[in-house]
Amino acid sequence: MNPFVYQRYCEDESFCDRKEEFRQLDYILKSNKENILLYSKRKIGKTSLVKEYFKTLDKKDYFYFYFDIFNSTCYVDFVKIIYKNIAFTLVQKYGIKYQLLKDIFFRVDFTAIIKDDKILFTPNLNSYNFEELINDIYKGLDRLCSEYNKSIIIAFDEFQEIANFLEPSVYKTFFKYIFQNQEFRYIFTGFKKQVLCDLFNKKSSPLYNRAVCIELKAIDKMIFYDFVNNKLQNRLPFEIFDRLYLKTEGESKLIQEVCYHIYCFLSSNQNKQLNSEIVDNICNSLLESKSEYFKLLLNELSIPQKIALKAVALNNGIELYKKENLFNLHVTKSSLNTAIRRLYKNDIIDKEDQKYYITNKCFDLWCKKEFI
Ligand SMILES: Nc1ncnc2c1ncn2[C@@H]1O[C@H](COP(=O)(O)OP(=O)(O)OP(=O)(O)O)[C@@H](O)[C@H]1O
Ligand SMILES: [Mg+2]
Repeated sequence: MNPFVYQRYCEDESFCDRKEEFRQLDYILKSNKENILLYSKRKIGKTSLVKEYFKTLDKKDYFYFYFDIFNSTCYVDFVKIIYKNIAFTLVQKYGIKYQLLKDIFFRVDFTAIIKDDKILFTPNLNSYNFEELINDIYKGLDRLCSEYNKSIIIAFDEFQEIANFLEPSVYKTFFKYIFQNQEFRYIFTGFKKQVLCDLFNKKSSPLYNRAVCIELKAIDKMIFYDFVNNKLQNRLPFEIFDRLYLKTEGESKLIQEVCYHIYCFLSSNQNKQLNSEIVDNICNSLLESKSEYFKLLLNELSIPQKIALKAVALNNGIELYKKENLFNLHVTKSSLNTAIRRLYKNDIIDKEDQKYYITNKCFDLWCKKEFI
């Protein structure tokens, strides 16, 4: 079986290192008793890290819950995600009886279904008042803590979305509840650095000073190399990995994806030795295989947005508004500015240290190749 995983978060054998990060999370959450904001560019490994970290926690001492809020479009979705995951985690991971859910929550009934040998719970809400629901959830968690004498760690993944679907008043109510119990610790994760840092660093925000901000960096090059090379039976020369790491800027997902294809190549070419040309071909085929999808993405954009994307790709995200640049792209400053803001809002590009970049690294490489 191919040992490389890239379609979803990774775990166990496909998870590399992050020992230092585990130590850091432990220290902040357990010793310092603070919350954490963990952000990074896309596909560096936030979700995998949190899920893997949770496995290190002692179930005797902690309840941990993971909520991915990416697909929430309103507070009802949001609340349902919370109920659903608490129910799933308590029954599946902690072996707690279904009846307990009825004893701790009063604004919801659960319908249990079995899917792929797992019990899933659909929450049917008895109220559509956000404050009642969030109060019910937190009271339930309080009961759980005191009954089992455990602490709780909660992860909210894709937290940058919160302001998109919660109205400001609802949003404030939510923050009022989450910090009521001093024993609850949080890990907030997401990829929009500016949005997230504003949430936790602006004095006017209800989250001001509520978490220690950590940027998750790419996996260390040498450690990642050893990990990958081991899975490729030591057939990957370091220079080739070094180039790949540079090209992908250490993006964990793309490295795993390319290695997945290298593994396929090596499996069917047992006697061949890898060289740069073979790996370049693998990378090019990978980009080509995604061409149709990327063209669809481009088709969704207006002409000024396509121009803006081109400007970001070709100028490495800097000095976009320089006269000669505007001239070359046949665009006015204001039109480019509007388009850039739209791409940013739609998460197609992001900004770091005054530099724009395309969030999907593979799309970025494809654009660079196509637009030249
Ligand atoms: N520690 C790791 N070791 C090896 N590969 C990793 C690791 N973490 C992440 N990856 C690779 O990156 C991919 C994406 O991981 P993950 O979903 O955790 O990233 P993410 O930062 O949460 O992404 P997103 O920004 O979309 O939320 C995984 O499928 C895997 O291929
Ligand atoms: Mg993630």
